Amino acid sequence: MSRAALPDDAELACRIKGLDLESKVRLLTGASLWRLPAEPRLGLAAVTVSDGPQGVRGTLDDPDETGLLAPAPSALAAAWDADLAERLGELFAVEALRKGVDVVLAPAVNLQRTPVAGRHFEYFSEDPLLTARVAAAMVRGLQGRGVGACLKHFVANDSETDRTRYRARLDERTLREVYLAPFEQVLAEAGPWSVMAAYSGVDDGTRSAPMTEHARLLREVLKQEWGFAGPVVSDWSATASTVASALGGLDLVMPGPHGPWGEALVAAVRSGEVPEQLVDDKVLRLARLARHTGRLEEAETLRPSAVPPVPGPEEFGLLREVATRGAVVLRNERDLLPLSPQTLTSVALIGPNAVAPYLQGGGSAFVPAVRTVPFTEGLRAALPEQVRLNVHRGGDSRRRAPYVSLDLLTDPDTGESGLRADFFDSDGNLIGGEVRRDGDWSAYGAVTPATRRVVLRTVVTLNEPGTHRLQVGCVGRFRVTADGDDVWSGDDDRGVELVLDSSHHHPPLKDIDVHVGDEPRRVALVVDLTVVETGGHNRFVTAQLRHAPPGPTPYEEIAEAVAAAAIADVAVVVVGTNEEVESEGWDRTGIDLPGHQNDLVRQVLAANPRTIVVVNAGAPVLLPWADEAPALLWAWLPGQEAGHALADVLLGRAEPSGRLPWTLPARAEDVPVPDARPRDGIVDYAEGVHVGHRSWDRAGLEPAFPFGHGLGWTHWSYESVALPEPSVSATLPSPAGGDGLKLIVELTNTGPRAGREVVQVYLEPPQDGPDRPVRLLAGFATVHAEAGTRVTAEVHVPARIFQIWDTATQDWHTPPGRYRLLVGRSSRDLRLAVDTTTGP
Ligand code: BGC
Repeated sequence: MSRAALPDDAELACRIKGLDLESKVRLLTGASLWRLPAEPRLGLAAVTVSDGPQGVRGTLDDPDETGLLAPAPSALAAAWDADLAERLGELFAVEALRKGVDVVLAPAVNLQRTPVAGRHFEYFSEDPLLTARVAAAMVRGLQGRGVGACLKHFVANDSETDRTRYRARLDERTLREVYLAPFEQVLAEAGPWSVMAAYSGVDDGTRSAPMTEHARLLREVLKQEWGFAGPVVSDWSATASTVASALGGLDLVMPGPHGPWGEALVAAVRSGEVPEQLVDDKVLRLARLARHTGRLEEAETLRPSAVPPVPGPEEFGLLREVATRGAVVLRNERDLLPLSPQTLTSVALIGPNAVAPYLQGGGSAFVPAVRTVPFTEGLRAALPEQVRLNVHRGGDSRRRAPYVSLDLLTDPDTGESGLRADFFDSDGNLIGGEVRRDGDWSAYGAVTPATRRVVLRTVVTLNEPGTHRLQVGCVGRFRVTADGDDVWSGDDDRGVELVLDSSHHHPPLKDIDVHVGDEPRRVALVVDLTVVETGGHNRFVTAQLRHAPPGPTPYEEIAEAVAAAAIADVAVVVVGTNEEVESEGWDRTGIDLPGHQNDLVRQVLAANPRTIVVVNAGAPVLLPWADEAPALLWAWLPGQEAGHALADVLLGRAEPSGRLPWTLPARAEDVPVPDARPRDGIVDYAEGVHVGHRSWDRAGLEPAFPFGHGLGWTHWSYESVALPEPSVSATLPSPAGGDGLKLIVELTNTGPRAGREVVQVYLEPPQDGPDRPVRLLAGFATVHAEAGTRVTAEVHVPARIFQIWDTATQDWHTPPGRYRLLVGRSSRDLRLAVDTTTGP
């Protein structure tokens, strides 16, 4: 059937009217964790959704399913390049089609309001305009190939602590000008087919409600004012009410098939609390989503007919390109970078993240990667054969030991290697079991419906003399014994909350230290776990068994690494965060590098003047030695092609042309929003519209590196800026309709190499009117020029950036006065200016 023949809204509405109430309500809750219900009478096939936004995880119907793992979203944003984001969106679409996914749960356009936010890596920027540009491009890339985007998390869910309970308190201007702004702009520019309502709530002064019930924001703003015609989908297990959420504007409860709607919603419609036409409208919105994604009447869509069955080199190439393009050169004294491989004889590659890179952030965005190229492998492959590569960890920065090795485990029943799991029903009858061959016994979905308890048994044999540390990690209700003695127990009866705060894959740990003398020691471990019931998510148990053998102390490891650095031509130290630090489910408690990494860097810097420090982190970490590092590179959470991308950058095969999409603080005490802990259930957005770099400008504080900073491989001279239409008033009809201004910037690449530059424009509004930021990011353009050549950048400055939300008229308004547009390389390196005035 061709697209033209697909039923239009009127036809769909008519078919919906023909359905009984129960059938319609059934469509409003997921059929499973990742699928929506089908309804042949509407011509509706099941729509499948999947996370985003580091790749497309798939539905995990096959536990061995892997996929393409992209750099984390903040790395993409650091490229400041909409075309690149659109290409990555297209790649996600191909991957989605390959996995039978119709809607990718991405992009996330919450803001990096505080550096400690657990999902900082998953958001694009601290700036609404940069966020919106990148996100809109990604949506275009996805949807241009027939795969839906789900714009999330609507709205002001910018931190994780207590995320299902807190209310973000913001005034209306802040909400409109900062946190709603990316949603509004992406909807206007790219029209995502679905939107996700957040776990948290908003108190905007007129109404305080969870976002799944926020009628003012969902119905009045998103749907009526902005004209959003698709479904609002709940975040997973976020819906806590029947009537309030149904009236509030939510259209789909996820996951299913259980949840607070179903029969309760049918009853609420029958009793007149919820009008039936509201139910019809929700079904219509879901049918539109199906129509877009080709799930209505098995229609032909924009999808390419043939999708390569497995990911290939071209796709790996794009992931590598994103990782290099996003990498930010923060410092490069005496042009230490890029290295010329021919002149090298030895490289010391050092650091906890050099040996165990952190490739992606944790939580729902996690993708089991189809392949990974660690830093060691990428560098080894790229360096000429005669160059020695010496790798040293220089101390562990993780608190969690590695999973115990299978060689040390014995199944007590058979004497073979492994960990025995016995399943018991509610009467205590043994109903099944299995033998596991590693230390991670997190059974997510493998637990049969009748299983109530799982008992794990193994004997750990420790041979090496010294002190071994065994670590057991469990959640919920459990009991752990070692050689028959109780060592730990838990009685946490929470259900789905253990999924939502990520403790199911990041459980608390108990250390058991075992001293081994001349004779090996055998420790009999028993872990008795009660299955956690989660409602819509899978029932699960979690148990981890980890092991740290006796070994050198961190300081012994550092000394060894420093000795290697001292005799190498070049030392490359890779420091950063890890899976214990940056994840969905919790916020960080500070922004220091974990472990002894600062000591390591300081000592390596002292040992070798040719030291390059690479930061492998998504969110800001303090770098107290930054001024002493001759070369400093921010490499993000770089995804599966990490090693190749790092080699491309270090050896000059590609220019790292990233610019910081957030501000890097120099001192913890300067951070404008140092934590996101709710107080009395409220996260107070007291800084108002002064988010991110705007706060730093208002306070006049000097960060370590400012928003927008990044050096690349060449130098730029900014020659001139012109505003072909100098009066804003003529081009700014109210409200968002005006399309703004165009700035023409001339610049020259004065350096020795071709390069890419991000021309940034900041707006200084008049300060004698309403409270406004000192400077706002107003536009940017990415240009490329050969060495010694001049290039013209055209920068679009949208009308909206001049405007404020007028709470009295409930409309946008451009305060009259003189506005200055500043052009430069970062928010603190502004080289050209032009003024414009707006009339009353
Ligand atoms: C996250 C969402 C995600 C959903 C489904 C939630 O925990 O907040 O971003 O799309 O899970 O995995």
